[in-house]
Amino acid sequence: MKALIAAGGHATRLRPITWTRNKHIIPMANKPMLSFPIKKIVDAGITDIIINVNPGEIESMSSVFGDGSRFGANITYLEQRGGAKGLAHVVANAKEELQGERFLFFLGDNIILGSIKKFVDRFQDENLDCMIALSHVDDPERFGVAEFNPDGSLKRTVEKPRDPPSPFAVTGIYLFNENFFDAFKTMEPSERGEYEITDIITWYIRNGKVGHEEITGWWKDTGTPDALIEGNALIMDDLQRDHFSIEGDVSKNAQLEGLVGVGKGTKINKDTLIRGPVVIGENCLIESSYIGPYTAIGDNVSIKDSEVEHSIIFSGSSIHTDSRIAGSLIGINAKITDHKFSHPKTGHRLIVGDNSVVEL
Ligand code: DAU
Repeated sequence: MKALIAAGGHATRLRPITWTRNKHIIPMANKPMLSFPIKKIVDAGITDIIINVNPGEIESMSSVFGDGSRFGANITYLEQRGGAKGLAHVVANAKEELQGERFLFFLGDNIILGSIKKFVDRFQDENLDCMIALSHVDDPERFGVAEFNPDGSLKRTVEKPRDPPSPFAVTGIYLFNENFFDAFKTMEPSERGEYEITDIITWYIRNGKVGHEEITGWWKDTGTPDALIEGNALIMDDLQRDHFSIEGDVSKNAQLEGLVGVGKGTKINKDTLIRGPVVIGENCLIESSYIGPYTAIGDNVSIKDSEVEHSIIFSGSSIHTDSRIAGSLIGINAKITDHKFSHPKTGHRLIVGDNSVVEL
């Protein structure tokens, strides 16, 4: 089997971070987001992986994920011709690569903790035409939603309904057979101008054998800053102990509690308390600070006299402030300091990019 990963799109809800980079390379626990779906797919026994990217992004994405050999996979990249026209269009765009195949379609911003092997196995063992994974959620109106017949069988799936027919979201893990391309021929763009994957699933429900299975473990669509920060925390909880090694230089007067990873060339100086799980990249300087649980800090970051927790700090940033930073996403080379360290000493001096969020 082959797998297709959707890693294009505009990610408007993650601006300004996504003005300058594709969201699928945003670091989670200091690894690019897409490395988690890739690993799940390989663990399910599928190693032939196609990554769908926006036009013009093949080079930047392949420079991060390469040919897949380090994941034990063979990764190729495919531009979504015409740009982000919807998830059904992502698959239709890969027709040449997928025709005649049974395949897994995985949304690159979906993070799942358990294995996906049982979905793949059931799809194959029962020779289903389509298989979807559902998750019970509190806010189904944000997702594709499953509607059921009185006998519990699937009736249809509907995209972001105002009045959801059930609390079951259709997650971004789908299995299809080659009939997909017949289904696509009958599709029209929805009101929001996208070819909806939920319309394809409804077509399969009416024209074939569709299996559904509930994801009982943790599943997250990391499309918003809050979901990304929560995803980062859950991934850190799930990481094996050997991910947290101390390769940098930790002062005798610094205190490390729980699982803490410190990269090469990083200095943790005196009067610092780090309470894990925390991962810190290479060549950072952490001084007289408190770093709290679920914080992932990239490379070349400087944190001085500050308190940071439950946050993702990208490479090259510096933080020097009396205010505690919590639940935050701090982009590459961002600088956060108190006004008392600069002139004039009163008032806030802000250089804030488009779509930034600042809570003073
Ligand atoms: O996460 C599950 C939900 O994902 C499902 O419940 C919905 O039915 C499905 O439509 C989708 O909804 P989202 O609003 O979350 O989709 P989003 O536009 O965020 O795109 C999902 C992923 O696919 C994301 O990684 C970006 C990528 N993508 C998206 C589009 C529209 C592409 O690669 N190309 C595209 O054209």
